Amino acid sequence: MSDNTEEQITQNVLDSMAQTPNPRLKTVMTSLIRHLHAFIREVDLTEEEWMTGIQFLTRTGQMCDDKRQEFILLSDTLGVSMLVDAVNHRKSGGATESTVFGPFYRPGAKELPMGASISLDGHGEPAVVMGRVLSLDGTPIPHALLDIWEGGENGLYEQQDPGQPDMNLRGKFRTDKEGRYRFVGIKPVSYPIPDDGPVGQMLHSLGRHPFRPAHIHMIVSAEGFVPVTTHLFVKGDKYLDSDAVFGTKDSLIVDFILHDSPEEASRYNVTAPFYTAEYDFVLKPL
Ligand code: BEZ
Ligand code: FE
Repeated sequence: MSDNTEEQITQNVLDSMAQTPNPRLKTVMTSLIRHLHAFIREVDLTEEEWMTGIQFLTRTGQMCDDKRQEFILLSDTLGVSMLVDAVNHRKSGGATESTVFGPFYRPGAKELPMGASISLDGHGEPAVVMGRVLSLDGTPIPHALLDIWEGGENGLYEQQDPGQPDMNLRGKFRTDKEGRYRFVGIKPVSYPIPDDGPVGQMLHSLGRHPFRPAHIHMIVSAEGFVPVTTHLFVKGDKYLDSDAVFGTKDSLIVDFILHDSPEEASRYNVTAPFYTAEYDFVLKPL
């Protein structure tokens, strides 16, 4: 144990944790030490690089407060959040796929009637989003809850933008007896994740852009079913293949169809031109 040579040190650290009472903690820490030490050996990490890493992580922590979680942003941009999501939802079996939660959810959105608009300021291109919530076998699920949030026409969520009303573009909707839902939002736009901190500097150093493809967030839940946290992405968005947080999935891409007819628009209580997007969510029974 005393001979902490390059060859011996990994085993010495592992031996030091031999008495860890929590077996899961022991498994996780053993693997973490093995991979961390292997990484250092593989790249022959210099002392200067080690210090750069320490300073980067320090700045990442210092950037965090009750509104900004730079460590989650780091996890998101390194593909860690989506990999954790993937290993925890391996057997969707035909249920709607999940994707990243993101930092812009706010609890407490109002429950609104079928077809209502979540836009409080009327800005942006109206989009009627509709479909059903179904069980794996295709049975409609009545009274399912959709908790929706999206950014404004300028790509900012309301809590990032003093120009938007409080709780703008957020709402909850229930499905009817046939499992149908419908709400009016706006056609989402692609936007950059917060890139004015260490994560933004990292992206820049790696030659990466900070953009996410246009999407609407939702948590879909119903009694007796596994809830899903997911997005609907806009077909044709130029960032679908290079999402800064690796959140895109083909099954979540939806066509937003443009309509010009004022008669059709009045049916949905919107003004032309407007978009429609249709999507059926599928939940797995508990
Ligand atoms: C979002 O889609 O809101 C988001 C997700 C991950 C990081 C930043 C933003
Ligand atoms: Fe988002």
